Amino acid sequence: MTRTVYVNGEYLPETEAKISIFDRGFLMADAVYEVTSVLNGKLIDFQGHVARLQRSLAELEMVSPVTMEELLEIHHQLIEKNNLEEGGIYLQVTRGAGADRDFVWPDPEEVKGGIVLFTFAKKITSNKALDEGIKVISVEDLRWGRRDIKTTQLLWPSFAKMKAKKAGATDAWFVEDGYVTEGYANNAYIVKDGVIITRELSNDILHGITRTAILKFAKEAQMQVEERPFTIEEAQNADEAFATSATGFTQPVIEIDGVAVGTGKPGPVSTRLREIYIDEMPKTAL
Ligand code: PDD
Repeated sequence: MTRTVYVNGEYLPETEAKISIFDRGFLMADAVYEVTSVLNGKLIDFQGHVARLQRSLAELEMVSPVTMEELLEIHHQLIEKNNLEEGGIYLQVTRGAGADRDFVWPDPEEVKGGIVLFTFAKKITSNKALDEGIKVISVEDLRWGRRDIKTTQLLWPSFAKMKAKKAGATDAWFVEDGYVTEGYANNAYIVKDGVIITRELSNDILHGITRTAILKFAKEAQMQVEERPFTIEEAQNADEAFATSATGFTQPVIEIDGVAVGTGKPGPVSTRLREIYIDEMPKTAL
């Protein structure tokens, strides 16, 4: 099926969508993005994603070419035009296209930011990875120091994913100074003696929108949460491990660097949290 996508003010078939070769997102990864999941044709946690987008834009002194109300309308139009029931929407805002390649930013009064959105269909409430759990490998975290900003500089995460694939695993967890920062495209957690452990928020990790919701649900369900760094060895010796992201919700991790975690099967805490997430989040979906 040819998707209808949104590019700089127009809804177009994906085959006809074009951007300038001078777009700074293309030339310099001078761009931020969001991925919002869609369940039953509705956006999950849209407010959270918009709030983080605004923060990413502000941190990079970038101006959105559309208002946040217009952004919601574009998301809805794309869901409708593509008959999207389950999956997600990718959104990217760039600093736009200057007259040439230039390290100096163009004046936002003169050069409008670029914007691209497209839908993707994906089974996210149930799939093989969720049923069986995933294997991860550890990879040194060589990303830049502002991982709290959701930029499109994804070369190292992509490299790490390829390393995992070559090793017969699915995902990579990044390690810096001996401690896990986060997954290549998700936040990382372990569970030990009933306590959920995940790294605290800082510039070292992306402030996951799913992370916020999951920790809130965990606390409401009287589960104990500890926000602190953990090592790969601690994770290998945990009772269970899991990852969260907009497109994975909670994803059980059953093996780390070849060592089975807990029983080597998806654990009860991540399974329970996923059930709560899938029950609760549609109530506030837009
Ligand atoms: N990735 N950490 C990193 C490095 C991420 O790229 C992501 C999301 C997360 C989880 O954030 P959230 O819960 O808001 O999705 C954590 C998206 C899904 C991606 O790049 O496709």
